[in-house]
Amino acid sequence: MREISRTQVDARWSRPERVVLAVSVDKEGKADIIALGWKMKTSGVPPMVAISVGKTRYSHKLISEGKEFILAVPGEDMWEEVLYCGTHSGREVDKFKQTGLTPLPAKFVRPPVIKECIVNLECKVAGELDTGDHTVFAGEILNYWESEDQRRNLLSIGRESGYEFLGGGKGYRFGAIKR
Ligand SMILES: Cc1cc2nc3c(=O)[nH]c(=O)nc-3n(C[C@H](O)[C@H](O)[C@H](O)COP(=O)(O)O)c2cc1C
Repeated sequence: MREISRTQVDARWSRPERVVLAVSVDKEGKADIIALGWKMKTSGVPPMVAISVGKTRYSHKLISEGKEFILAVPGEDMWEEVLYCGTHSGREVDKFKQTGLTPLPAKFVRPPVIKECIVNLECKVAGELDTGDHTVFAGEILNYWESEDQRRNLLSIGRESGYEFLGGGKGYRFGAIKR
């Protein structure tokens, strides 16, 4: 073993990363979408997931205030929409409008599910942890949705082999597991 820098070590262990989207709403019900790599399952009973959201993000304000989010899982065909949501802020743009993604009403929370995603989870914030420049929001999953197709999950990839490169830009590369 040898000591190396943080950027060098990130390239060794943090890719590929399954990318997700989180949808939240403001007080008037206007929705925003953020792209997230940092997420995890945290509990089976009750079912819970956690997302790590930067404190500067508009989504951070919306989730802190609204205490609800949709965790939406994009398919392999959605890298351009994900890149847009991950490089623009809802403070300036309407991401549903700009990407053409379709909001559909959820059952138990105010943020809408995304029709084009392969999975949508309705989450109610059950706990928050300040972790430095990000906050981890743990959400209890109240309801599950899935699409009726077999698209592959979208991955944020590096330069490693074994993945099909789908596209990218602004320093991000997207792919899927090779068929
Ligand atoms: C592939 C990808 C993964 C990202 N992962 C995260 C993440 O885990 N946490 C985070 O706070 N921001 C992450 N970002 C950056 C946010 O998506 C980005 O800052 C976004 O513009 C914030 O939007 P908002 O201001 O509307 O909330 C990621 C971006 C991309 C493209």
